[in-house]
Amino acid sequence: MGGAKGVMTPLSHIPVLARELVENVSFQSNDGVYLDGTFGLGGHSRFMAREMAPDGGIVGLEWDKRLEKYHKDLEKFSSIQIFYDSYERFDFVLASQGFQEINGALLDLGLSSVHIDNAEMGFSFQKEGALDMRYSQDQERHAGDILNEMSENQLASIFFRYGEEGLSRKIARQIVRRRKKKNFTTIQDFVEFLKAVFPSQKGYPWKGIRRIFQALRIEVNQELNNLEHFLDKVTFWMFRENDWLAIISYHSLEDKIVKKRFTELTRECICPREEPVCQCDYEPDFEWVKKVIKPTSKEMEDNPRAASARLRIIRRRFDANIKPPIKEWSS
Ligand SMILES: C[S@@+](CC[C@H](N)C(=O)[O-])C[C@H]1O[C@@H](n2cnc3c(N)ncnc32)[C@H](O)[C@@H]1O
Repeated sequence: MGGAKGVMTPLSHIPVLARELVENVSFQSNDGVYLDGTFGLGGHSRFMAREMAPDGGIVGLEWDKRLEKYHKDLEKFSSIQIFYDSYERFDFVLASQGFQEINGALLDLGLSSVHIDNAEMGFSFQKEGALDMRYSQDQERHAGDILNEMSENQLASIFFRYGEEGLSRKIARQIVRRRKKKNFTTIQDFVEFLKAVFPSQKGYPWKGIRRIFQALRIEVNQELNNLEHFLDKVTFWMFRENDWLAIISYHSLEDKIVKKRFTELTRECICPREEPVCQCDYEPDFEWVKKVIKPTSKEMEDNPRAASARLRIIRRRFDANIKPPIKEWSS
């Protein structure tokens, strides 16, 4: 997870794998436009802004408008523009500003330290708060709605698919039984309930509680769908040699999606499987810059939340035949 440790020190904190990112991608195309799709506190964008050619700019997207108050000091960065919208809608936002291409794009997935530190946002199972977990308050359904309204089968499927929790059926059954008497309203109430229904061996109950919270957060925010939709579209906005796409993920479900898509985009053969020898001479548009970069032990020590981070980067191999006219950053 990127962002500052606490919100008071956004400039002093080094965001997750930020050095590795800027060392492996190029910011030098004239008038380059770079997308930071998960702006958070802007840690990565500040890093990127320092590397950019003078005429370039960063479009930051942040879904959670509550983070706006942490962006005030960014007014001095004329190269950064922030919009409060989902990265999944990056194409609408960019088009509305007259942009037609991206020269680099970063997603640093998941939640920021602000979400973990602020109990009322309802993300942390270690803090009392409402069962919310929405990044954007415009979304109608929060975690409490899911727990109190979804069927037993739907709940089991969410816990299994998004939390990879083996006891998902048992937990779903117990949730439905309990809510017949009383709906779930607070984090503490739900955590106490989970502590009672999970066994207490082999890392449980906390291992299970962590998985159930991850599953609920993914479902509330449709995190995997957003990532898939973004990947469906973003490379169609990249036309120039060296345009890059970098994604930092924090759990295997996200990372699997990224690795699979990047592998498809960079594969050098599209022959049918039955073909014993490659006949296609296919030239993929993209190539790997780094298959995976993990944090150093020093980074993990300084920021334990970085421990599970995985950065994958691809870039465009050559210019596309059709290129949109460059829009100047300031126009
Ligand atoms: C790990 S933090 C990013 C931290 C940031 N890189 C930094 O250094 O400050 C992820 C951020 O993405 C935001 N987010 C999650 N889903 C999003 C989406 N679909 N669109 C835009 N922002 C999203 C979260 O609200 C959170 O602030």
